[in-house]
Amino acid sequence: MRDLPNFLAVADVLGDLTPEQRDMFELRVEQWWPDLHEGLAAVYPPREVEDLEARLLFLAATAFRDREPELARLDTKRLLDPGWFQSGKMVGYACYADRFAGTLEGVEQQIAYLKELGITYLHLMPILKPRAGDSDGGYAVADYRQVRADLGTTEDLRRLSAALRAEGISLVADLVLNHVAKEHAWAEAARAGDEKYRDYFYVFPDRYMPDAFERTLPEVFPDFAPGNFTWDDDLSGWVWTTFNSFQWDVNWANPDVFYEYADIILFLGSLGVEVLRLDAIAFTWKTMGTNCQNQPQVHALTQALRAVARIAAPAMIFKAEAIVAPADLVQYLGQGKHYGKVSDLAYHNSLMVHAWSMLAAKDVTLGAHALRGLPPVPASTAWITYLRCHDDIGWAIDDGDAAAVGLNGYQHRAFCSDYFTGQFPGSTARGHVFQYNPATGDRRVSGGAAALVGLDAAVEAGDRVATQQAIDRLLLLYALILGWGGIPVIWMGDEIGLPNDAMWAQEPGHADDNRWVHRPRMPWGRAEARRYPGTVSARMFSGLAHIIDVRKSSPYLDAWVPAEVLDESDPGVLPVLRRHPLGSFLGLYNMTPQWRPWPSWRLGGLGLWDSVDLLSGRPINVADDGNVWLAPHASVWLVPRER
Ligand code: GLC
Repeated sequence: MRDLPNFLAVADVLGDLTPEQRDMFELRVEQWWPDLHEGLAAVYPPREVEDLEARLLFLAATAFRDREPELARLDTKRLLDPGWFQSGKMVGYACYADRFAGTLEGVEQQIAYLKELGITYLHLMPILKPRAGDSDGGYAVADYRQVRADLGTTEDLRRLSAALRAEGISLVADLVLNHVAKEHAWAEAARAGDEKYRDYFYVFPDRYMPDAFERTLPEVFPDFAPGNFTWDDDLSGWVWTTFNSFQWDVNWANPDVFYEYADIILFLGSLGVEVLRLDAIAFTWKTMGTNCQNQPQVHALTQALRAVARIAAPAMIFKAEAIVAPADLVQYLGQGKHYGKVSDLAYHNSLMVHAWSMLAAKDVTLGAHALRGLPPVPASTAWITYLRCHDDIGWAIDDGDAAAVGLNGYQHRAFCSDYFTGQFPGSTARGHVFQYNPATGDRRVSGGAAALVGLDAAVEAGDRVATQQAIDRLLLLYALILGWGGIPVIWMGDEIGLPNDAMWAQEPGHADDNRWVHRPRMPWGRAEARRYPGTVSARMFSGLAHIIDVRKSSPYLDAWVPAEVLDESDPGVLPVLRRHPLGSFLGLYNMTPQWRPWPSWRLGGLGLWDSVDLLSGRPINVADDGNVWLAPHASVWLVPRER
């Protein structure tokens, strides 16, 4: 291990602080410096590491000194309770601030609504200044230090985060760290010929290198942004653009880029952001001959960035947005030497995909097999469980998993696309195909959760029975993600069964990107209808709020207890066990429209012979045939009955 840095170098910065504060800074550096050093040394040459570390120490000391007292207090609170985000009381909500409530101030006014639902974590989709025009939903950032003008100012953001915090809600914001908008100042400087900034990007004078990379690179947006490089006249070169041509990938092999993002992270921390969503993190390191995703350097760099954040603003944690295959996914919560040292949270993409796949197939065999095969994650981390978000669903179903249960991966993925776009006989789902890729046959799917469970179609047909069945399906899937462990995140509108946005293509710049179909504006009138029993809004809202309530009042759902998928007894019922020190928690999820059995003899071995279903509040009912029978699309959460 390398020696600690020389604190004399920051004596001036910390000069006005109390001895206790200075001591706290030094203790934190002692705690996290080894992580920082190891991370940087794995990526950069020794001389650059030394120089970068000196700058980072200064940066962290300055941020530590300038931390607002309220946030400094939060730092202490979180250090006393480092597993705060693992609590079963955490429930998330994600939305675009403008689509939810117009402005940041508007969001503040809706805090009561979020509290009514039981929310403790609010992800506001990109809120920093994007480029003008098409900005990939805000993921093409033109300035990390300014809030989107139509939403408000950085002062408004600071105020909102404080208002949320006062109500027990943590603010989550995006850090887009794979690319910037081509209008960002770094890109402008590069285009103006500044060599320093040209090195912030991957620029190639001719097609030689791009062609060599392309041989193994997939395409993220084959429809509207084919290829991974874009010619730029001013640069007189090809610039790396994994996503859209206006999103320039930054060059993390350049230590100056690392420094810039460390600075931005601490700036966002100073505004009261508690969780940083590391957007498209899988793509941040490029290696010739690979798909340039999930490279080991990504994890080394995350470890170093997290160490900087821990030293200066430990109230802030990281969430990895890596929508990748299961074996790659678990790396983002730290495996091997990065165990527990990278992101604290990561999206459970596999659970999301398999939840939909099991519902469509009315069979849990494949999902149970795949989810069982996922390697364990560090007990200090947590999954983000979710059903829908602002993005499409890509059918990340592994060929090996499919083959292991006698299915063909390609065909099953095609089935999921067919099913959720309503092409499969009997399906009333209303998804849209997003980014058909003829080379791989992939057909990703856009569409809101309500549309995908058939609620839109049932309501439109005025079919009361089908409407209730669709609501049951949506509540079933939500019970699954709320009962898994980790932070469940509700996508805006699901709580009232919001339909697809029929007018999505009418808005300027959206027509090419059908992900806007599931990014509607919040119709507050419809939300208001949650107060009128019998409406779809009321049935969804009260159903979901009930599951949330049960979750929050149960001690069994803390994330440090892993979820284990048990062997199935019935191909329609997914059994998920959590072995909590207080006793077992068994979630049973009937993915079919029929009554399905769960053999009661299996309960004894789990300590659940005498158990109660938390969701209905009733003791289990064993039928004469020895089975517990689950109603169509029902879920139960069994725990030992208290005596
Ligand atoms: C993430 C976002 C997605 C965006 C991409 C590029 O995957 O969720 O919406 O297109 O990153 O920033």
